[in-house]
Order: sequence, then structure tokens, then C-alpha cells
Amino acid sequence: MDIRLENASLHWQQHCVFRELDLELPAGQWTSILGQSGVGKSSLLQLLCGIADDADLSGTIQCSDGKPLSGRVAWMAQDDLLLPWLSTLDNVLLAARLSQRQVTPEQRELGHYLLTQVGLGDKARARPSQLSGGQRQRVALARTLFQDRPLVCMDEPFSALDAINRLRLQDLAAQLLADRTVLMITHDPLEALRLSDRVLVLQGSPARLTHPILPRGAAPRSVRDETLLQLQGELLALLAGEAA
Ligand SMILES: Nc1ncnc2c1ncn2[C@@H]1O[C@H](COP(=O)(O)OP(=O)(O)OP(=O)(O)O)[C@@H](O)[C@H]1O
Ligand SMILES: [Mg+2]
Repeated sequence: MDIRLENASLHWQQHCVFRELDLELPAGQWTSILGQSGVGKSSLLQLLCGIADDADLSGTIQCSDGKPLSGRVAWMAQDDLLLPWLSTLDNVLLAARLSQRQVTPEQRELGHYLLTQVGLGDKARARPSQLSGGQRQRVALARTLFQDRPLVCMDEPFSALDAINRLRLQDLAAQLLADRTVLMITHDPLEALRLSDRVLVLQGSPARLTHPILPRGAAPRSVRDETLLQLQGELLALLAGEAA
């Protein structure tokens, strides 16, 4: 299902952050958005996830199958939003816990598998307060991957991770979300380029989306890929131009 956000706008204290913004998310593709802090990336993502509760943030969402998007989005917030009174495993199983009376053995097994895949198989019973920031982010990623939704929206999903875990979990997400429509916000150009079919920059005031950069080849791409490194240079220049 293709998804289209139309005529998005955000005003904040007399200031127009963005207006008349359109964003296309082609079915089964991974789209990433980069841009300066405060430019409005999280707000755009929240609009798509249907959690924008601010009257100054608005837009229209169209799905190619004609049905509403509501209930078909998995959202990973910029903050991990783990529930402190639940174990890490129960946080991962949250979608199942909310929609059913009882979690099935298969769902519990999938939850354990995902925790193991994010390197936290031995922390299933731990509370979020017993985990580091990066570990908490990995639980939030596992929780997002657990939800079986056609659109997956992730706001800086790997930002708190060390370099090696970051690459490993990028690979895991690429593998598990291969058939999904994905929108990812990131500040890391290489991350966007190795995972995405389309990379956009949100920039300016009011902010506009640039034409997409289309990295070639199947994701996840190697960080040694020369074409990728060249695109990284171009993307950094684009971002730096914005900062100047
Ligand atoms: N409740 C609020 N509190 C503070 N700022 C707000 C609020 N609502 C809207 N804004 C404004 O909205 C703009 C966009 O914020 P948003 O969180 O979408 O940016 P962002 O691009 O995700 O930034 P970052 O990269 O730092 O996460 C900011 O410039 C901010 O001033
Ligand atoms: Mg943000």
C-alpha cells in the first residue's frame, strides 16, 4: 500500500515550521528523512502515526487501498517510551498484551527471539530502569519489530547505540522489515544510505523536502561501498549547506 501525506503544516508560536508539505511513501520501500534539529522531522512522523494532538499540526493521509491508516502503523518514538513497571519482555509483547487477553506461546517465543537478536536475551526479566540508554533503545526496537504492521515509523532508532551494535541492528531491521513500508528519521547519512530506497532532506524555513536520493543495490549496503561513500559526501554537503 502506497501512503501519501498531503498538505502537512506545523505552526509553533507564530512561526511556520512547515506548510503545504507532501510526503510519498511507496509500498514496500524504506524512506529516510534527515535534517537539522528542530526542522520538524518528528512532527511529520507523528502526523503519519496519528498521534499528533496539537491543533497547529495537521495534514491529510491517503492510502492506496482506500482504507484508513489508523491501526496499521508501528511507531518507535525518539524517546524509548518503555513502561517502567513491565519487564523488558513484557514491553516487547506490549502490542499483544493490549489487544488480547492472553499472549500466545508463539508470541512469547517471538518476543524472546527478538530480545536475543538485539543482544538482550539475558535481560528478559529486567525492568527498564536496570538498563542503559542503548539497551533501552534496543528493547524499543524489538518492541517495534514485534508489531506486525504494514507501515513502520522509526524516529532515530539507532541513535544511542555503539558503532558495532548500530551496524548489527541496522542489518537486523533491514532483514525483518524487508517487505514493509518504512519511514525512518535519522541524523546519520551513512545509516540512511545503507538502509533506504529513498533518502530525503527536510530543510529551510518553512521547511521543504528535497528530491530523493536513490541509493542503488539491495539493503543493507556495505559501509565500504564506494558509491555509498560518495553519496554520503553529497548528503553531508547538502546538510552543511543548510547549516551555513
Ligand atoms: N510542544 C512543543 N515544545 C517545543 N517545541 C515545539 C513544540 N511543538 C512544536 N515545537 C516546535 O516544532 C519544531 C519541530 O520539532 P520536531 O521535534 O518535529 O523537530 P525535529 O526535526 O524532530 O528535531 P530533532 O532532530 O531535534 O529531534 C521545533 O522547531 C519546535 O520549536
Ligand atoms: Mg525529532
